[in-house]
Amino acid sequence: MQRPLYERVTVVEGDITEQHTDAIVNAANESLLGGSGVDGAIHRAAGPGLLRECRRLGGCQTGDAKITAGYNLPARFVIHAVGPVWQGGTHGEDDLLASCYTRALGLAEANGIKTIAFPAISTGAYGFPLPRAAVIAVRTVLSFLSRSDSIEQVIFVCHGKRAFDLYVDAIRELAGEYTTPAGPGVYFSKKRGNRQEVLREQVRAQLGTIEEVWGVRFVDKEHLARIIMVRCGDRWGADSVTAGLNSWVAVLGKRGDIEVPPGVLDRILDETLQRFSHR
Ligand code: APR
Repeated sequence: MQRPLYERVTVVEGDITEQHTDAIVNAANESLLGGSGVDGAIHRAAGPGLLRECRRLGGCQTGDAKITAGYNLPARFVIHAVGPVWQGGTHGEDDLLASCYTRALGLAEANGIKTIAFPAISTGAYGFPLPRAAVIAVRTVLSFLSRSDSIEQVIFVCHGKRAFDLYVDAIRELAGEYTTPAGPGVYFSKKRGNRQEVLREQVRAQLGTIEEVWGVRFVDKEHLARIIMVRCGDRWGADSVTAGLNSWVAVLGKRGDIEVPPGVLDRILDETLQRFSHR
């Protein structure tokens, strides 16, 4: 039985880079190559691997969103949404802002993401009036959650008390009620986090062994560990993927820095997941 809508949305004051949700949403620009505000904070916290992956995405249209890994962030994924620049409200800004939330939630659903944190997209450098943006954000998210059971929790992460109050008022207005979360600030599903973290540590250790045995260094080790953890989800699958990587490194016959091409990793993952799909 699905929980009431107002329980599936939470408002916190804080820093989106500290949220331990499955995904956090970036208030990006069309280049996806970083910026200031939320964009700058996320890239700083995630590290250089994020920009490397963003470079491969070829930008993003206003109103749309694209997904990457979270790298050094607590969140496993970053969903980069490009909000509209406010031009007085007569250039489709409301619809473009709503589209950011719908596209981001659609990507989250498609990637099995259960908890996701949003900043107040477009309300900083892009100048969108905060009260108007808060209502659009809450209305769009509640509408999506009313049609989909897959996403368990949406966190609106606000900078400052004014934004916090506006989002709480919008939820009360649109969902009829608002329940304050058990603890303020960071939303963290400890049980899920520990299991995931243990698996990620195990994968990191296995990658470290491969590096020692073959005298190599995976330049994207964090990213590799995260993708393997997310795609496999358990130790059998992870063991099999790192064994496949070990064979690939052995055949490669190189030493020093190596980067696993995405196609190679996808092939090993697909082969593993097929082998384990009957389990
Ligand atoms: N955590 C949560 N909220 C934040 C954080 C943070 N670390 N930093 C800023 N904010 C808030 C701001 O106070 C604002 O309310 O997020 C909202 C969005 O502000 P911006 O980051 O300026 O985003 P936006 O208005 O969408 O402008 C996007 O700015 O940084 C550039 O590259 C970005 O060109 C793009 C533009």
